Amino acid sequence: MKALVLYKSKTGFTKKYAKWIGQALQGDVKDAKEGKKLDLSAYDVLIYGGYCHAGFISGVKPFLQAALPTGKKVAVFATGASPAENPEIEPAMRRNFTDDQWNKLRAFYLPGGLNYEAMGAVDKALMAAFRAMTKKQEGESSEMYQMLCKSYDLSDEKYIQPLVEYCQE
Ligand SMILES: Cc1cc2nc3c(=O)[nH]c(=O)nc-3n(C[C@H](O)[C@H](O)[C@H](O)COP(=O)(O)O)c2cc1C
Repeated sequence: MKALVLYKSKTGFTKKYAKWIGQALQGDVKDAKEGKKLDLSAYDVLIYGGYCHAGFISGVKPFLQAALPTGKKVAVFATGASPAENPEIEPAMRRNFTDDQWNKLRAFYLPGGLNYEAMGAVDKALMAAFRAMTKKQEGESSEMYQMLCKSYDLSDEKYIQPLVEYCQE
């Protein structure tokens, strides 16, 4: 079984998970930018990882366009700032796919975190706006607002297990 893990990552969480998954499956791990040049027919399992950006999994659409017509096993993972237990994750993940796509793939959410130090100016500004909105709606002492105020890292190799098992089935 030969696996390809493609990823799109800005602040490192998705890249870290891609590497863990690549190690576990002994597959190739590549930045999605290199994806177009790759021969997908050389692989049995195609895996894509992107970060959540206002509910959308970054870069997933071009990946699905290339990967699904191959008929190979396809898995998608998304990292985000939410803890794994957040009940909003499942419907948010589902909204990224059409019914047809959903039937042909498996999607997994892997908790990342926030890394303000590695964020670009635009993302920092967007997060500042989101923080301000959260403060207004939920209050300064809310858990959510407090969490958004500094960088944190929820990532853990243990979260890749369901995805790895699906790919090995
Ligand atoms: C502008 C912006 C929007 C975001 N939107 C979401 C979101 O909708 N849901 C979520 O869980 N995390 C969201 N995040 C957090 C990122 O998805 C999270 O930090 C992710 O792990 C980053 O991945 P990376 O380190 O590979 O770039 C957002 C972050 C930024 C900067």
